[in-house]
Amino acid sequence: MATLHLPLDRDADLPIFRQISDGLRRAILDGRLRPGQRVPSTRGLATDLGVSRLPVLSAYEQLLHEGYLVGRTGSGTYVSDSIPDDLLRTPAVGRPMRASRQPTSARERHVPNHPSLSNWHVPVIPFQAGLPALDLFPHTAWAKLVARHARAETVDQMTYSDPAGLRALRVAIAEHLRASRAVRCTAEQVLIVSGSQAALRIAAATLLERNDRIAVEEPGYFGAHRALRSAGAELVPVPVDEEGLHVPTLQRRGTNVRAVYVTPSHQYPLGTTMSASRRFALLDWAARNEAWILEDDYDSEFRYISRPVGALQGMDVHDRVIYMGTFSKALFPALRVGYIVVPPSLWTKFLDSRFAFDLFTPTLYQRALAEFLQQGHFARHLRRMRSAYLERRNALLQGLELHCRDLVRVHNSDAGLHVSVVLREGADDHDVAARLGQRGVATLALSSSYIGASRRQGLLLGFGCAEPPRLLEATRILGDVLRESS
Ligand SMILES: Cc1ncc(COP(=O)(O)O)c(C=O)c1O
Repeated sequence: MATLHLPLDRDADLPIFRQISDGLRRAILDGRLRPGQRVPSTRGLATDLGVSRLPVLSAYEQLLHEGYLVGRTGSGTYVSDSIPDDLLRTPAVGRPMRASRQPTSARERHVPNHPSLSNWHVPVIPFQAGLPALDLFPHTAWAKLVARHARAETVDQMTYSDPAGLRALRVAIAEHLRASRAVRCTAEQVLIVSGSQAALRIAAATLLERNDRIAVEEPGYFGAHRALRSAGAELVPVPVDEEGLHVPTLQRRGTNVRAVYVTPSHQYPLGTTMSASRRFALLDWAARNEAWILEDDYDSEFRYISRPVGALQGMDVHDRVIYMGTFSKALFPALRVGYIVVPPSLWTKFLDSRFAFDLFTPTLYQRALAEFLQQGHFARHLRRMRSAYLERRNALLQGLELHCRDLVRVHNSDAGLHVSVVLREGADDHDVAARLGQRGVATLALSSSYIGASRRQGLLLGFGCAEPPRLLEATRILGDVLRESS
């Protein structure tokens, strides 16, 4: 085919792979590329554009994901035949975004320095933190279940539903949590919610008054910071060391602290596992101070070195722990299904807040998911994913050793879907992340996980969503970028 006109601006803030995907999408929508038409090979387009193959691969992957392109085995990539007519000939999609790195107001300065939410986009490319292996998801089995439940949906199932969630799903989740996470619960304590983000808002609304203080890990999860702040809570950062949250500091700073948010199985972002003595100390602090512990167990299904560690909730004899989990990492984030295990004494309050928040989680997905668990698809998928992630993690570590030795220090790689690395003295992690973005590699700056002024410079390298060769290639690019910027 003739060379495609795809102007690139190498000085723009918008990464090259986004410029390519936006340009191709625009060409499809305004008819320059027609349904069924073959698009250039990634190698050919990379040569035409004078860029490496990686950003082109990332752009194609994105458009395959969005359904603009389809791959035909052995014969290349084509514009999809099934793009709705009303989308075609629409002049342009998406505005190129210039990420503002400088917060303007004092209020904004308070918000951690993480990616802007306007045009928020999480493409499936190497090092994307927090994404599972979407390429290995058992889509056929899942699609069959969803389709069957959609077809069989009765009028009765289409009305408003129980805010606690569907009984079958609550039973299946309780079984899973008891067996694999040592959570002490019955199905009556399981509240189905729309992901951990909703769980945090619901917990904050139930347990905290406006301006109540909640301790958070420093560094910690920016999604939790946002959710807790928007519920009116004041965040009190407490440092994390190699044993997890530093409970002695919490004890010192913890006067009038109503709750603490922790990720004990796999600390976000540093990756440490909370030691047994810290767990006991934290539970003791909560019991003495009548404070609540919000335990976020977001990706604990995946451990590579040591044996799985049970949930903190399972060690709690005073019912101070509110346990939260999600299917975003074990399955996929767009599902938006998570759960809270609520101490019995708080059940009615939680149910009230859950109802006030968004009534209930879509029942079609709840039904399909219940069956996905009951039929063993979930357990099978987790088993497969453990070995796939081990392979991906090893490829990442091997690549770091090969291309980035002396440039980064790996913080922890025992569990989860990302590895955090610390950069050398003087490095600017936002700058490194931006340069990587230009080359089709997505990474999160570690410094954006801090609330306080003292911020370690590092990177979160997600290995869940990319295959080993692409991870190896991305570490080579990381090495180049770090050498250029040192
Ligand atoms: C610490 C932590 N908790 C929870 C989540 C998942 O949240 P959700 O269930 O809202 O998708 C993430 C996602 O990256 C996370 O990093």
